[in-house]
Amino acid sequence: MDTEKTENRKKEHVESVLQYGAQYSKSTGMEKFEFLHNALPEADYLKIDLSCKFLGKRLLYPLLITGMTGGYPGAEQINKDLASFAEKHGIAFGLGSQRAMIENPSMKKTYYVRDVAPETLLIANIGAPQLRKYSFEKIEKMVSGVDADALAIHLNPLQEVIQPEGDTNFEGVTAAISKICGRLSVPVIVKETGAGISMDVAIKLKDAGVKAIDVSGSGGTSWSAVEYLRGGATPGFENWGIPTAEAITLCRGVLPLIASGGIRSGIDAAKAIALGAEIAGAAYPFLLALRKKRLEDELIKWENQMRICAFLTGSRNYAGLKAAKMRVL
Ligand SMILES: Cc1cc2nc3c(=O)[nH]c(=O)nc-3n(C[C@H](O)[C@H](O)[C@H](O)COP(=O)(O)O)c2cc1C
Repeated sequence: MDTEKTENRKKEHVESVLQYGAQYSKSTGMEKFEFLHNALPEADYLKIDLSCKFLGKRLLYPLLITGMTGGYPGAEQINKDLASFAEKHGIAFGLGSQRAMIENPSMKKTYYVRDVAPETLLIANIGAPQLRKYSFEKIEKMVSGVDADALAIHLNPLQEVIQPEGDTNFEGVTAAISKICGRLSVPVIVKETGAGISMDVAIKLKDAGVKAIDVSGSGGTSWSAVEYLRGGATPGFENWGIPTAEAITLCRGVLPLIASGGIRSGIDAAKAIALGAEIAGAAYPFLLALRKKRLEDELIKWENQMRICAFLTGSRNYAGLKAAKMRVL
């Protein structure tokens, strides 16, 4: 029964997001920042190289397709398609919550992408409340079963609390994260799912042994809007959360950051990196592009936009882009 519910929910999430869009109506705050134009770039556009290392693996661009799906028959093709584009473009790829795989091991095939993405930085995924429910051995098997390089633990208290049957007990979650960090053979990332991470939370996560944070701030996909549109959720929280630009500036310097939540172009991604993130990530734009059969074009556009931002700020490489000057509007 539980298994069936998890599978249906994951399928409905993908379809609801594609059907409704369900984006925050408030912005990420990224529009408040602009690169300082450099009219004298000492750089050759064609030689710009934005490759970088993240969690021990080389990326050709500092980009991640963040975790979305798995756990129902249709998810297999989505994950394989997204992962094979990630492999081709040298960017990182995240799986959706693997709760369905723990509940029903036959679902492993809907997450397994190593056959199409042998070199990709691959990130496994589980929700924080589930950490207390399943043994360490089960979590470890879930991660090694897909041959992941890291585990992302997602925090979604907003989404859980507005749902009639949400998992609303977050007591002991920090201790559970700390326990996993101490034992797991791969680094642990903690991510929000669109409501953002504050500095206090980032510091607690660092103390718990977490190696990186995906701030996943507000301004992009709104899970409270998704749940509300699907029906039954408590309304009024569709715009709750810390905007992505603010979450980056609050958390930078605490741990290496992934900037996601409403990152909608290579320009947003480049700005997020210059603001203090190591890499940028997005979910909805890549899912939508895949559905429209134009993911390749979308990725090329983002890459070109990032390289143009580098050129126009006189940055020859990733380190230059990180140090690029910005103006606050
Ligand atoms: C269809 C869909 C399913 C998602 N499922 C998960 C999930 O299982 N685990 C997770 O950590 N985040 C999940 N997310 C959240 C994303 O990883 C991301 O944090 C959030 O959508 C904000 O990014 P965006 O504005 O680019 O969509 C999902 C997002 C989408 C669009």
